Amino acid sequence: MMSEGGSYNSKKTDDICEDYCGQETTQAALSMSRIRCILRGLDFKAYVLLFVIVPTCIFGIYLHGQKVSYFLRPLWESPPKRFHDIPHYYHENVSMEKLCRLHDWGIREYPRRVFDAVLFSNELDFLTIRWNELYPYITQFVLLESNSTFTGLPKPLVFANNRDHFKFIKPRLTYGTIGGRFRKGENPFVEEAYQRVALDRLLRSSGISDDDLLIMSDVDEIPSGHTINLLRWCDEIPPILHLRLKNYLYSFEFLVDNKDWRASVHKYQIGKTRYAHYRQTDDILADAGWHCSFCFRHISEFIFKMKAYSHYDRVRFSHYLNPERVQNIICKGANLFDMLPEEHTFKEIIRKLGPIPSSYSAVHLPAYLLDNADKYKFLLPRNCRRESD
Ligand SMILES: *[C@@H]1O[C@H](CO)[C@@H](O)[C@H](O)[C@H]1NC(C)=O
Ligand SMILES: *[C@@H]1O[C@H](CO)[C@@H](O)[C@H](O)[C@H]1NC(C)=O
Repeated sequence: MMSEGGSYNSKKTDDICEDYCGQETTQAALSMSRIRCILRGLDFKAYVLLFVIVPTCIFGIYLHGQKVSYFLRPLWESPPKRFHDIPHYYHENVSMEKLCRLHDWGIREYPRRVFDAVLFSNELDFLTIRWNELYPYITQFVLLESNSTFTGLPKPLVFANNRDHFKFIKPRLTYGTIGGRFRKGENPFVEEAYQRVALDRLLRSSGISDDDLLIMSDVDEIPSGHTINLLRWCDEIPPILHLRLKNYLYSFEFLVDNKDWRASVHKYQIGKTRYAHYRQTDDILADAGWHCSFCFRHISEFIFKMKAYSHYDRVRFSHYLNPERVQNIICKGANLFDMLPEEHTFKEIIRKLGPIPSSYSAVHLPAYLLDNADKYKFLLPRNCRRESD
C-alpha cells in the first residue's frame, strides 16, 4: 500500500515533476531567451540612447537652449517697475485748451521749441515718414551718422549720400558725422553709448536751450504729430515723459502690442540732459505714436540689420541670414531669430507664442504714409513680399 501509495505518490510526483520540469525547462528557456532578448533589447536601447537620444538632446539644447532660458525668464528676472500711465486725450476737433485741461495741464501763450534728435543708420524710408509726420512742430532736426555700425562694421554715410531726398528739411537740419572706432569683439553697447555722447555735442551746437523740448528716440520710433503738438502747447507737463508707442514688426500689418516705452520727451536742461535710450522716469503717456522694428523695403536691409544690430549674438546660425527664409518669416509674422517672446510672466509668454496675427487696420497711421501709399506699400497690410534688392 505504502509502496503502491509511494509509487503512486512518487509516480504522481514524478508525473507532476515531469510535467512541472518539462514546463520549467520550457519556461526557463523562455525566460532565458526573454532575458537575452531583454538584454539584447537593452543593448539596442542603450545604443539608441547613446547614439540617438543623447546627441539629439544635446543638439536640441544647443538649438533651443536660448528658448528654454527665455521660457524660464519669469523665474530668473522679475518684471520691471510699473510705469505711471498718463491717459492721453485727443481728437482733431477738440481745442488745444480743452485737451491740455483734460491732462490737468495749463495752456501756454506760445508753444515751446521742439528738437528732434536721432542717431541714423540706414533707415531712409522711416526717416522720411518721421520727418514728414513731425515737420510742422519741429524747430531743428538733429541727425548724427557714423561710418560704423554699433557692432563695429564699416557702413557708408547713407544720409550724406541721399541728402537730395531731404531738401524740404534743409533750413531746419543740424547734421553731423562721426568716425567709428572699429574695435573688434567689443560689446556693441559701448559703440552705441559713444555715438550718443557725440549726439549730445551735436545737439548743443544746434542751438537747443533750457525749457526747449527734446525728443529722444530711434528713427523707427515715431511720436505722432498731435502728441508733440500737445506737449509743446501745454504747461506743467512732466520734465521727462516716456511715450507709449504701438509696437509693430516688419510692417503695420503685425501689431505686437501697445507697450513700447523707450522713446521720451525732455524739457531740456543745459549741462544736465543727456541723450539716452533707456528708462529715465516713471511717467508715460499712452498711445503716443508708432514703433516699427525691422520694417524695411529690401531683404538685404533685413540681413544688414540682423548683422549690425546690438544683439548680433542672436544670429546663432548662418542659415538665419538666408534671404528666402527671411522672406517667409516676414510673411508669417514669425521671429527672425527663432526666439521666444521676451516677457516677464508665463501668461504673457504663452499669449505671445507663435506668429503675430495679421491686422487689417491702416487707420491712424502717419499721414505721409497713406498719402504716399504707392511708395510705401510694403508697410501696409497684405503686402509682405519684399523687393529682393
Ligand atoms: C471738425 O472741424 C472741421 C473744421 O473745423 C469741420 O469741418 C468738421 O465738420 C468737424 N468734424 C467733426 C466730426 O466735428
Ligand atoms: C570713418 O570716418 C573717420 C572720420 O571721418 C575716418 O577717419 C575713417 O577713415 C573712416 N573709416 C572708414 C572705414 O570709412
